[in-house]
Amino acid sequence: MSDQQSSFDSVLSEDRVFPPSPDAGASLGGAWIDSMESYRDLHAKSVADPEGFWAAAAEDLDWFSHWDTVLEWNLPDARWFIGGTLNACWNCVDRHVESGHGDEVAIVWEGEPMPGGEPDVRHLTYAEVQDKVIRFAAALKGLGIGKGDIVTIYMGMVPELAIACLACARIGAPHSVIFGGFSSQAIVDRVEDADSRIVITCDGAWRRGLIVPLKDNVDEAARNTDRIEHVVVLKRCENEVQWIDGRDAWWHDLMESGDGPVECPCEPMDSEDMLFLLYTSGSTGKPKGIMHTTGGYMVYTMLTSRYTFNLRPDCDQMYWCTADVGWITGHSYIIYGVMANRVPTLMYEGAPNHPEPDRFWSIVERHKVTQFYTAPTAIRAFMKWGDEHPAKHDLSSLKLLGTVGEPINPEAWMWYHRVIGSQRCPIVDTWWQTETGGHMITPLPAVTPTVPGSCTLPFLGIDAIVCDERGNEVPPNSGGLLAIRTPWPSMLRGVYGDRQRFIDTYFSTVDGMYFAGDSARRDDRGYFWIMGRVDDVINVSGHRLGTMEVESALVSHSSVVEAAVVGMPHEIKGTGIAAFVTLDPSGEPGDELKVALREHVAKEIGAIAKPDMIRFTDALPKTRSGKIMRRLLRDIAAGAESTGDVTTLEDFSVLAKLRDDEE
Ligand code: WT7
Repeated sequence: MSDQQSSFDSVLSEDRVFPPSPDAGASLGGAWIDSMESYRDLHAKSVADPEGFWAAAAEDLDWFSHWDTVLEWNLPDARWFIGGTLNACWNCVDRHVESGHGDEVAIVWEGEPMPGGEPDVRHLTYAEVQDKVIRFAAALKGLGIGKGDIVTIYMGMVPELAIACLACARIGAPHSVIFGGFSSQAIVDRVEDADSRIVITCDGAWRRGLIVPLKDNVDEAARNTDRIEHVVVLKRCENEVQWIDGRDAWWHDLMESGDGPVECPCEPMDSEDMLFLLYTSGSTGKPKGIMHTTGGYMVYTMLTSRYTFNLRPDCDQMYWCTADVGWITGHSYIIYGVMANRVPTLMYEGAPNHPEPDRFWSIVERHKVTQFYTAPTAIRAFMKWGDEHPAKHDLSSLKLLGTVGEPINPEAWMWYHRVIGSQRCPIVDTWWQTETGGHMITPLPAVTPTVPGSCTLPFLGIDAIVCDERGNEVPPNSGGLLAIRTPWPSMLRGVYGDRQRFIDTYFSTVDGMYFAGDSARRDDRGYFWIMGRVDDVINVSGHRLGTMEVESALVSHSSVVEAAVVGMPHEIKGTGIAAFVTLDPSGEPGDELKVALREHVAKEIGAIAKPDMIRFTDALPKTRSGKIMRRLLRDIAAGAESTGDVTTLEDFSVLAKLRDDEE
């Protein structure tokens, strides 16, 4: 343990603490919470009186009828704003038009192709979005879709994806968005699990200059399940598609069929009516449908968007989250939370390195992006591609940077801070999950001093702890289970069709609390450090280690670009450490470097963390969302065949390569 602690002390030394940047808040129009004292005070109050706190937050939404009871909590079931009715689409779109802001930009979109070097850009105002949403909602009704029917959406990153989601919300039909990078089998699984009769798709989606044949994938899925009765197709790529009369309909035909104004009022939804279903991978092979409801989700995503990103209307902001709407990040922080705040949300269709590795930075410059939210894996790619790409662009519009999805290694954090943020933008490292709906542990910009690699402190109303299985808090700097003691408005309401899995996964590990599946520790300041999924924690000779901690150490070596560490069976230690490493051109794969890396890790963390096996590889196997496939690596490290679900594998050749490289 002492080895680990000494490395922690170095990470926590004062010179790694970045003071808050009030200037950044000021240049965004002001910070919503302006001092650490007010955060601590408000946090204490919000946790002591969650009902009072969340009731006040909920007043910022429009309700058709007010709630009677703020919260009913019978573990594991939470119900928020009981008796209240509202509509998510109304709160994201209509109310802004009603209050005279219809001419303001709601969605800014940039397509991937750059014909003649010029990007394809669209600006949609709230009034335009409203008009399209009404038309599409009416069209859905025309196809027989109504309240409670689950609508599957499998599209590229085009404004119509957001419009489709909002149209579903308008009529009370929960959407189930499937990431456009998933396979047709994934569509079959999800459509069947949700019993969804309609799929909204595109003829194709642009990705790295090529067309992803979305409609073909839906056609193939429809051959393998009898559930799909309607397919609505948006024309995006002029990609030739097969057509089945009676089943398939063009988006543009549906939109134009009505003469004159189309009527389709927002359906008053019960606060606890399902807003959407989103499938996510669990520890078993089969993805589970996470259910989110309307009132609590809207309250929570609106408030977190506002405070974490300092979103303010009327302040010339341009917010850009680079995630795909196919993930929870896109649901909460491209669409619902952001639009509820009446700030323009930017959507980009394609790859970060198309046509050149500077694409993101050219978008930042062109649209004067103020808040930028991305994933550590992307940041590491940018680091690898080189500083010259961001250097070509004026990034001075940026005021705030965010990260999400995985722990950010301090090296990537520093690079982001220095090269993208010019050492003036606060970085919000937001820890949360598909299941939590919104940010749970995050710095508040302009307020929270940050330490690279820590997601810092819980959001308002969040009672997060690091504990043992009985729910007893563990002492500072020791690892434990990350759990949330009390309910929050946007918590998942269940796993669709699988009550037992809901209970087993989230409410059976830690007595009486929501268990996140992650391990973490808190430092002496109370800051949280996510160690990774619990199944990524390895116990080496009785010492607990985070695989991500070892990775971070490896990556801090000048020859290493990326590293993945997993446990492997070890005769003497119980679990040994296997490291898969990709190298910089300067790194010479071989025994000498292996020795150097082991020493480097020993130096960074302690001798206990020295990898038992290091394997050099050209690339790491990742899911299409960019997550390293640790399960696969564990199997490879153990010399076993992978038996799990690999439908999310980005590149099978990577896997083949790893197998060929056996030591
Ligand atoms: C898991 C949830 C939340 C949207 C994207 C991922 C990991 C997420 C962080 C962070 C360390 C993080 C956790 C979590 N994670 N954010 N800032 N620092 N780890 O959503 O696919 O539901 O994954 O991602 O392990 O449990 P998700």
